[in-house]
Amino acid sequence: MKLKIIKDSNPIMRKKSLPVDLPLSKEDKDTLDNMLNYLKLSQDEEYAKKHNIRSGVGLAAIQIGLLKRMFVIYYENQDNEIVQYQLVNPKIIETSIRHVALSNGEGCLSVDKDYKGLSHRYYKIKMTAFDALTNQDITITARGFDAIVLQHEYDHLDGIFFYDRIDKKNPNLQLQDEELI
Ligand code: NI
Repeated sequence: MKLKIIKDSNPIMRKKSLPVDLPLSKEDKDTLDNMLNYLKLSQDEEYAKKHNIRSGVGLAAIQIGLLKRMFVIYYENQDNEIVQYQLVNPKIIETSIRHVALSNGEGCLSVDKDYKGLSHRYYKIKMTAFDALTNQDITITARGFDAIVLQHEYDHLDGIFFYDRIDKKNPNLQLQDEELI
């Protein structure tokens, strides 16, 4: 499947995405399947090189031009487990006081420029959503990297980029309660 990834220079990326009708339409499920497949393929070095695409762990519908509150996640965690979701109408229902940030900074398939600095995230979040992959309502409790990925994708639904969360004057300023990973 060929998906065209929209870049941050496109004003649509700043729009707020709209809730998705449930039960999920076949069209929306197909879209989520295509998005998940795109992520999987993006992590296949040979495929990515051949098709000149970058490797990603998350993709929001707005990044392919759809103003819908849904995104997909796909990566292998430190315990060699596959973390994968097709989340629809996600909500963050709890956040920790502590923060976390990737010491090397975040990246995004829609952002070509290499922004340096810490994107401040909550260390732990609780998110509810309909997961189209398992076809059920779920509550995810995520910490550290897992929480960062979910917050990064969730931000896309509200038109926010990771670099919006970097302090302009002090890009590498670590918050007092922030863990760097
Ligand atoms: Ni992104």
